[in-house]
Amino acid sequence: MKIAVSSDLPLPLSAALQNVPKSATLAINEKSKQLQLEGKDIIRLGLGQSPFPVPDIMTQNLKTNASAKDYMAVQGFLPLREAIASFINRTELLNRTAENIIIGPGSKELLFGLQMVLNCDLILPAPSWVSYEPQARLLGKKVHWLPCSAKDGWKLTAQTLEKHCQSNSTEQQLLILNSPNNPSGTCFAENELKALAEIAAKYKLIVLSDEIYSELHYQGLHQSIARYYPQGTIISNGISKWAGAGGWRLGFFSFPERLKQVLDLMVVLASETFTSVSAPIQMASICAFEESPEMQNYIIACRKIMQSIGSNFSRLLNQQQIAVVEPEGAFYNLADFSSYRQKLMSKGINNDLELSQKLLENTGVAGLPGKDFGLQQGLIMRLAFVDFDGSKLLQQVLSNPDTTLNTETDELCRLFSAAERMGNWLQDL
Ligand SMILES: Cc1ncc(COP(=O)(O)O)c(C=O)c1O
Repeated sequence: MKIAVSSDLPLPLSAALQNVPKSATLAINEKSKQLQLEGKDIIRLGLGQSPFPVPDIMTQNLKTNASAKDYMAVQGFLPLREAIASFINRTELLNRTAENIIIGPGSKELLFGLQMVLNCDLILPAPSWVSYEPQARLLGKKVHWLPCSAKDGWKLTAQTLEKHCQSNSTEQQLLILNSPNNPSGTCFAENELKALAEIAAKYKLIVLSDEIYSELHYQGLHQSIARYYPQGTIISNGISKWAGAGGWRLGFFSFPERLKQVLDLMVVLASETFTSVSAPIQMASICAFEESPEMQNYIIACRKIMQSIGSNFSRLLNQQQIAVVEPEGAFYNLADFSSYRQKLMSKGINNDLELSQKLLENTGVAGLPGKDFGLQQGLIMRLAFVDFDGSKLLQQVLSNPDTTLNTETDELCRLFSAAERMGNWLQDL
């Protein structure tokens, strides 16, 4: 505990918290909003929020259940857990049970709880989502970053994982994998998952498979590593991304029987912290996990829109010599600006943090530096291609599933212009 000295009232502030800055994504969002308020034309590619509305079927259910007022079971509303177990078993061909699921106020809170409950080091692929590492730091945990490269689609390889495990084989460790991936938009293929699963089993790793974008695999081909390493994999998912309901704050973890004790401790932690997720939200979310034409049409339309943006935007960026691996899911890509390294350095721009600031000031394009995702070197930025009217486009595609989207689509021209704006600025440096 560090004592901050103040003239009249000394504040015993937590040293762990003081060393962790506010979440990078939220900070860029606030800065972009501020610049917009000042009248600047900002293309907001910082915050990874779903551009789509919550499906009608869910909002209708929320209205119906608005008067539910009692606290719910700490582990979560049983009918919701049953619907989630069926969802996992239907989509992943597993055998998970409602008894081994916990519902939380967003998967982020559950991820923090898991890290608190497990007294072990954390293994993260670099790049990884922005919050895993700060959560570990808040808890005083050691993090092992494992390098990934654009040539492998920014995905952790079994060879890299094995090399790490060979030199750290004495301790049990937690590995977090995320597919479809934030920040790269790439997805593990079946053979890659099998190879990783083999190493995880060999070294008895606990795997947290973050599948928050599962239904946004553009081809609908998402696979969980739990298929190949069921005994050691906790599945994390929720309604924030593929059901557009980030603000509803509902996520879940599904545990294998072998990790039941971990679940039990998380339930204790939940009982002493958030108690339970809002009753109306839990009730209204059941239908998100059930099979229905409404959910299916919604998800297929969202995939179609995001795939089209992902592939067109990647092509436009590559044309500007900003190197991008085409995404296969979610809302993101990682843009590598190193072909402009000499020009950027001649203007005093030496790293991706400086690059993101200069891009925002000079082109109005807001993105996040790769450093926030654990990329220590390079001139890499994550671009979240979500700055468009998702309700309008969704309506268009739902009413005419044959709609083709391209660089001429009115609703998307502004978003796509980010590639040219950045390219022009870089070439003129
Ligand atoms: C990869 C990843 N995991 C987890 C989360 C947290 O999602 P939530 O807490 O809304 O369930 C996010 C949100 O941005 C994410 O991108």
